[in-house]
Amino acid sequence: MKRWLLVATLILLAAGCISLTDDDTHTHTPDTLHEMNRSTEGLPSSQATQTVNLDDGDTYQLTAEPVEHDPGTGDTLRMMAYNGQVPGPTLKAPQGATVEIQFDNHLEVPTTVHWHGIRLDNANDGVPGITQDPVAPGESFTYTVTLPDAGTFWYHTHVDGDRQQEMGLYGALIVDPPKDDTDAWPPEHVVHLDDLLIEDGDLPHVYEGAVTYAVDGRWGNQLFVDGTDEPAHLEVLPQERHRLHLINTANARTWWLTFDGFDRVEKIAAGASYLEAPRSIDTLTLGPGERAIVDVVLGTEQTARIQDDAMGETLALVEPGGMPDPGGLLTTLEAPPGPHEQARAEDRRGVLQQTPDQRIAWDLVLSQPHEDEHDHGHDHHEGQAGYPDPANMDPFPTDHDVDWLIRDAESGQSQPVYTVQQGDVVDITIRHEHQDDAEHEPVPHPMHVHGQRFLVTSYGDEDPDELVWKDTVNPNDPVAGYNEVTIRVVFDNPGTWLFHCHVNGHSEAGMTGIFEVQPAS
Ligand code: C2O
Ligand code: CU
Repeated sequence: MKRWLLVATLILLAAGCISLTDDDTHTHTPDTLHEMNRSTEGLPSSQATQTVNLDDGDTYQLTAEPVEHDPGTGDTLRMMAYNGQVPGPTLKAPQGATVEIQFDNHLEVPTTVHWHGIRLDNANDGVPGITQDPVAPGESFTYTVTLPDAGTFWYHTHVDGDRQQEMGLYGALIVDPPKDDTDAWPPEHVVHLDDLLIEDGDLPHVYEGAVTYAVDGRWGNQLFVDGTDEPAHLEVLPQERHRLHLINTANARTWWLTFDGFDRVEKIAAGASYLEAPRSIDTLTLGPGERAIVDVVLGTEQTARIQDDAMGETLALVEPGGMPDPGGLLTTLEAPPGPHEQARAEDRRGVLQQTPDQRIAWDLVLSQPHEDEHDHGHDHHEGQAGYPDPANMDPFPTDHDVDWLIRDAESGQSQPVYTVQQGDVVDITIRHEHQDDAEHEPVPHPMHVHGQRFLVTSYGDEDPDELVWKDTVNPNDPVAGYNEVTIRVVFDNPGTWLFHCHVNGHSEAGMTGIFEVQPAS
């Protein structure tokens, strides 16, 4: 480990930013914790999400601030917004562009902005204590964001994500592939798939300096699609292709989506890249942090919907309507071929044929020092399909009482720090602690590697259905029935990069590690 990194880690430990096991003897309860300010007095009302088109060299001002937001339930909630919007503005820019984001923190708490899935320059990655200091209230930070890859990405806070992201600090970042003028492009829509936990008219158990729901993660009991409890609503012409950017912005929930009533459903992109060719699907699983582009075509005189299988809730309702396209161009439109040609030209198969420079394995472990004192933890309150049941979830223990860990299988080290050389290809097997007992711990642990991209080489015993660059993968899926994946990471971006579980309550409770990527000389 580099000396400065060791020092930074020690400072972080002292500041409680990386939580290793606290040696305190008491349990954290509402009496010993301090509630965050929940007052909505004097706050501006939130606004609807807007799309901002950015070009190479553009500068954009982004401000985080508290707002009052009604998710459609009639509750008046103190939330956090980027530029007053919940979710934050959708940023759209062409592949290859560099944009400058001038960020101001008008919250009462420190925060940062992370650009999820973007292989940008390390100093702009937004990880507190690793790539920058947290941006204190009233302070600013300028992010230079380069966009080498086309696809659906997102940006979000990287401080106290279980609370700040829950309260609205996230937005879509759409990177457009080159759009050949001869291609008609389908109309595009962003759908933020989220949930929200509301009890007695407010967000329950939000405390300063403590992560609640540290075992299961903060699951919502309420839909929160594009900031509301209503499904997304689209009016489209029958036989017209529409392009949906689906982003799982939930803290802990995996969406098991079904598509019902469409004439065609084609998966166009997943994770950090386009597929080599569109692929017909009728289901789609998206863990926290994961994204996909899906094209849908509606038949004549019908309504179609995207549903979450386990919740039984409609997330998007697609109905006939709208004005006919005068040129009739869209009616026969196939998916624009350009991005898929670009994907095929990358030779992803060639990467699979390489011999990895290194192989490592991670075990995902819940460590519970006070296990005998309380009967929390492994005793999950299971709902449908291996879900914890949000109606029965326990906010305690907190992150002070348990640790979620990524453990290097060979050394046994938790929160491992690896040094690799730029250009290295590393195979990582990620396995769930209870190999033989997947339903014992049903909570998925979507693993996210910052600043790099990877191909999944196997899901359990299965080969992947598609060859796509990803930055986040679910290593255990109780529905699909696997609890181990192997990924091949291509470390082409130098710097100090975090990897972690994207269930925010888990990463805040220690489920992290670091790749130190040494620049090629
Ligand atoms: Cu979207 Cu470190 O995460
Ligand atoms: Cu996790």
